[in-house]
Amino acid sequence: MPFSDLRRTYDGSPLRRELLAGDPIVQVARWIAEARDVLTGETELNAMSLATVSADGRPSVRVVLLKGVDHQGLTFFTNQESRKAREIEAAGHAALCLHWAPIYRQVRVVGRCRPVTREETEAYFSGRPRGSQISAWASQQSAPIADRAALEARILATEERFGDGPVPAPPFWGGYRVVPDEVELWQGRPDRTHDRFAYQRDADGWRIDRLQP
Ligand SMILES: Cc1cc2nc3c(=O)[nH]c(=O)nc-3n(C[C@H](O)[C@H](O)[C@H](O)COP(=O)(O)O)c2cc1C
Repeated sequence: MPFSDLRRTYDGSPLRRELLAGDPIVQVARWIAEARDVLTGETELNAMSLATVSADGRPSVRVVLLKGVDHQGLTFFTNQESRKAREIEAAGHAALCLHWAPIYRQVRVVGRCRPVTREETEAYFSGRPRGSQISAWASQQSAPIADRAALEARILATEERFGDGPVPAPPFWGGYRVVPDEVELWQGRPDRTHDRFAYQRDADGWRIDRLQP
């Protein structure tokens, strides 16, 4: 299958050093706000790739939803017995990538992973739709299951267990905050002359380098 007809011009507005916040999380929050203004409805703009690595160095990547940005880092929620969570617990680090195609922007983050507090997890979980809450209990995420009927049976059993009562956050479910050490902002520009700025944590705070495209 040819891909030559998929070629696009990345026509983003320039990204200049003097436009950048000194703190990359502030800058990422700005870009998220801008993406929200432009992209609402078009795409799930908080969908991000999360890369982890196994003890023997095998990387794996999947999409999760960004659920919070604060001065410490970027937060997502998951099953803490899943492959990603096991790899995060063992390695301590992960990488994230957000891509907003319509505005030719990419954000890359590498950082340490810290579990969020139980209170944060419970606050987030209590606001999820009931069906998602039930599924979180019913699914042993990343483990094999015989067939869909077996999954549906687990969901039914979970619904019966909680009846009409509230569904608390499962003890094996929670959030992780990626606390960045490295952040890169990529702004697509014409003729592959993209603007890239890399933040690197150092003793004084953050060093910012322009990178070649
Ligand atoms: C758009 C999208 C959003 C997703 N959001 C989440 C999420 O927030 N948390 C999560 O655990 N899995 C999420 N998933 C599912 C993951 O991609 C993945 O299949 C699952 O977490 C199991 O990954 P693992 O076996 O590597 O741990 C999402 C998938 C997609 C496509």
